Amino acid sequence: MAETIHEINAFSKVTDARWYPRYHLAPPYGWCNDPNGFCFYKGQYHFFYQYHPYDAQWGPMHWGHLVSDDLAYWKHLPIALKPDRPYDEGGCFTGSAIEKDGKLYLMYTGNVPGQPQRQAIAVSNDGLNFEKSDLNPILEVPQDDEIHGGDFRDPKVWEHDGKYYAVIGSKTRDDLHGQALLFESEDLFHWDFKSIMARDEGNEGKMWECPNFAHVDGCDVLIYSPMDMDIDGRIVYHDKHSAAFVGTLDYETGIFDRGELQLLDRGFDMYAPQVTETPDGRTIMIGWLDMWAVEMPEATDGWAGMMSIPRELHVRDGKIFSTPVKELEQLRLRTWKPVLLKDVSIDAATQFEGVEGEACELVMTIDAAASKKFSIAVRASETEQTVMTFDGASSTFTLDRSKSGRLIHEIDFKNGDIIKPADNVREIKLEPCDKLKLHVFIDRSSLEVFINDGAEVLSTRLYPTRTSQSIIFTPLDEIIVFDELNCYKLDFGLPHPHIPNTRVDKNTALDEVLSTTK
Ligand code: FRU
Repeated sequence: MAETIHEINAFSKVTDARWYPRYHLAPPYGWCNDPNGFCFYKGQYHFFYQYHPYDAQWGPMHWGHLVSDDLAYWKHLPIALKPDRPYDEGGCFTGSAIEKDGKLYLMYTGNVPGQPQRQAIAVSNDGLNFEKSDLNPILEVPQDDEIHGGDFRDPKVWEHDGKYYAVIGSKTRDDLHGQALLFESEDLFHWDFKSIMARDEGNEGKMWECPNFAHVDGCDVLIYSPMDMDIDGRIVYHDKHSAAFVGTLDYETGIFDRGELQLLDRGFDMYAPQVTETPDGRTIMIGWLDMWAVEMPEATDGWAGMMSIPRELHVRDGKIFSTPVKELEQLRLRTWKPVLLKDVSIDAATQFEGVEGEACELVMTIDAAASKKFSIAVRASETEQTVMTFDGASSTFTLDRSKSGRLIHEIDFKNGDIIKPADNVREIKLEPCDKLKLHVFIDRSSLEVFINDGAEVLSTRLYPTRTSQSIIFTPLDEIIVFDELNCYKLDFGLPHPHIPNTRVDKNTALDEVLSTTK
């Protein structure tokens, strides 16, 4: 029987809501990492996640569980899986979900330290209670000279032409190249090894974690999270990005014919994204809005880790675009009149009345030809700010979190020792554009910036003081010309078991909303 979150309540509490998100998914307390089992089942979205409920540090992995009717408002359900079998006693690691004959199947990795990883299945009739199969473990690592015998994890399962396929993260036996392994099944319980679907072809990661697969706009997309990669000269032990290839999977040979590596997010924090398809055929992705091997300051408040907003994927001319799902518009507070400005220019640093907040959304179109260089500071105060800078001359966009608040350090992945301050500045090149479109989501400890309809995305965690809520626009070369500048305050999307009144009626007055939150 699944433990309820209330039984586990006894162990741990969120002690301060300063960084606890209002509308992003996060554990009620304790630690979370990867998204798991993201799916649409019997009329609802189910989202599971790697969860250690007893401590705000990584530990034996459970599967936390959330459910939503609309991708905007969510509620916590009892823990779906806990590590309690000989094949998963070290943790129920990452996996995915699929519906078959009205039942929901979770396919996940059973982890036991010192043993090869293997795959297992749990089944549910109601999307609430899950039973592990007696046939577990249902899939062991193939004995093959080209396949590492231990690292074999994170299955993503899908159906194609009446058969089931699973892609599983792996590396070569010599530890040098990450790869994705493809398996085929008639019934989800008996699997045949089909192929090495794709492999690192040079600096694409030495282990591929969390592969995901989707069919988007007529193309196949293979997503994965690479370990050990050199990105723009930064070589890190456990890197830090979610990657993807656009291409075509040949279901006969099992070979994925693919283009260049693309990064799904160019910011600091985004890992292990999972995709699912909506009933109307869109592909939606949610990632872990964090990274391995950096401090998680919110752990001192009794929780650690949160998810990105859901993003809709598209492929145009071989390039992946990701944009916030339209369902999030439901979170725009109806009790607060949004600021909707048109055709405004400024020639000095400006704060627009009402354009501020710790949980808000900015939608901007800026005349890039006229506004040659400018910055936008968010979560700002006298002492803190997180700054985005656009420089038209070099077509660069920079995200600087060096004055965001509580700064973070890189830590040793194995023992948690502090190594050095984490990077704080990301600079990316944009395609030259006449209009710069920015869609920005701010929450209590995060910032997600979607540029030019999701051609680029930069995401980061932030740890500002609660009262740093200003937004300051500064021309750095004469003027900024806005075609439009809209600001919306956002509702609570996720109720919290310890923090009273974190779910308010949509019609509650704003003052009341703010006074009832810590
Ligand atoms: C990726 C990962 C997965 C693994 C899980 C364990 O973040 O390392 O490969 O299944 O986390 O929590």
